[in-house]
Amino acid sequence: MAETLTIPTTTDRAAIYEALYPQIAALIEDESDLTANLANVAAALKEAFGFFWVGFYITKEGQLVLGPFQGPIACTRIPFHKGVCGACYTRRETIIVPDVEAFPGHIACSSASRSEIVVPVFHRNGTVAMVLDVDSDQLDDFSEADAEGLERIMRLLERKL
Ligand code: SME
Repeated sequence: MAETLTIPTTTDRAAIYEALYPQIAALIEDESDLTANLANVAAALKEAFGFFWVGFYITKEGQLVLGPFQGPIACTRIPFHKGVCGACYTRRETIIVPDVEAFPGHIACSSASRSEIVVPVFHRNGTVAMVLDVDSDQLDDFSEADAEGLERIMRLLERKL
């Protein structure tokens, strides 16, 4: 396993996702432990993009429970019907929130969070295993390039479930 990530010095996020994808594939390829893989994926995304908060909420005990993450401490449990994470779980699709204050029911784990993207991760049987939550301290920080790049990385993780 490579010990360092090679990240291109560009602000073009699509190019960064492109460079990151094979490195994350290699990072998780030979490891079967889910916690270890989620921890490294969160760390790789934090390192590559400098996101304010990036981590996983895992479907457990009838709710979403905090998993491996990078960033400030966060809410530990989110009901399926609450917040952006709950909306992602229920709708089973990626949700981009350009302004968290304009999203009804948004859960503010940190007042510094201004925009957010949440991506579902599916079990082989089609149920939602977890969601990836990425928060930014900038308004309107996420685009279709993030949705495509993050979804592609989540498909890699799904192979390990
Ligand atoms: N904002 C999320 C809660 C998780 S934290 O941002 C880390 C939500 O509304 O679901």
